[in-house]
Amino acid sequence: METKPLDIRADADHAIVWRNDRLYLLDQRLLPGEECYLELHGADETASAIRDMVVRGAPAIGITAAYGVVLAARRRYAESPAGWRGLMTHDYSVLATSRPTAVNLFWALDRMKRVADNLTAGDPEQRLLREARAIHQEDVAANRTMGGLGAGLIKEYTSVITHCNAGALATGGYGTALGVVRTAYVAGKVKMVYADETRPWLQGSRLTAWELARDGIPVTLLTDGAAASRLAQGGIDWVIVGSDRIAANGDVANKIGTYNLAVVARHHGVRVMVVAPTSTVDMSLASGAEIPIETRDPAEVLRCGGRQIGADGVDAWNPVFDITPAALVDAIVTEKGVVRSPNAETMAQMMAR
Ligand code: MRU
Repeated sequence: METKPLDIRADADHAIVWRNDRLYLLDQRLLPGEECYLELHGADETASAIRDMVVRGAPAIGITAAYGVVLAARRRYAESPAGWRGLMTHDYSVLATSRPTAVNLFWALDRMKRVADNLTAGDPEQRLLREARAIHQEDVAANRTMGGLGAGLIKEYTSVITHCNAGALATGGYGTALGVVRTAYVAGKVKMVYADETRPWLQGSRLTAWELARDGIPVTLLTDGAAASRLAQGGIDWVIVGSDRIAANGDVANKIGTYNLAVVARHHGVRVMVVAPTSTVDMSLASGAEIPIETRDPAEVLRCGGRQIGADGVDAWNPVFDITPAALVDAIVTEKGVVRSPNAETMAQMMAR
């Protein structure tokens, strides 16, 4: 992967850029200190970028993989105009094994593969690019719709807490949880956004705070352990988060620590809103117990900022997502509508709309 200075201002709405037939990703590992883009050339590099957290966030992972399929098709068609489809088996598989929890990845790959499988003769690139662009644009449109629906649930001027980064950086643009925050802020409903810093990758401090500060939305960082104390002080009506996968019964997989926050929120009578497009809903899984949870390298916990912080010889457990039971979720907001107190029946009704 090579670094490319792009002639656009690096911003959260341009985390994934397709320009002049090339794919560029804003390297989120370097934010907020450096704003630099990497150019990707094929499925292997795209999968590495997803695995290594250059790009992250469920919808953004799906969109990136879709563009990765376009790059793969270009390369395979150049290798073999007659046999490109067969050669792509490797590419789908390498992309599908990049990260396991965000279902948007598999949803986008399925959609791209369906298009590829139905193409007749000729160069597949432009048709596949149209599909990848549609996936990207539909995600931004869904975020705008969810922004309005979620903001409608916030009745009074209040502060909110969010966890991880469910913003423009994590999506095609505008954000899921942060899309609601953005819309509600413009409507004069948001006093302060408290952002959990979100160990170990610090998506809250590095990404959420960066995005909101750039938009002029007031943001205050919390260590993950400080959220309970802040909720106890009052003045916060909602916890607003995104999701990586929602099961058919409304159980929610999201960044590790979301479950803690939901338990603490319920204790303090604070409501929990989960904002995610239907591409994040996996109706094939009955409950959160079936959602595969990614476990990453213990070194991510044992080191911080390039420095060892764990004592010599100590191990670490590093699951990067957890499951918040539907019973702790007050509302799931999708582009198809709001599901209050989600369960298998209300989720199925929403998905059927
Ligand atoms: O490990 P990450 O940074 O990919 O995890 C991201 C999250 O958990 C987000 O909250 C989730 O994907 C929702 S993004 C709109």
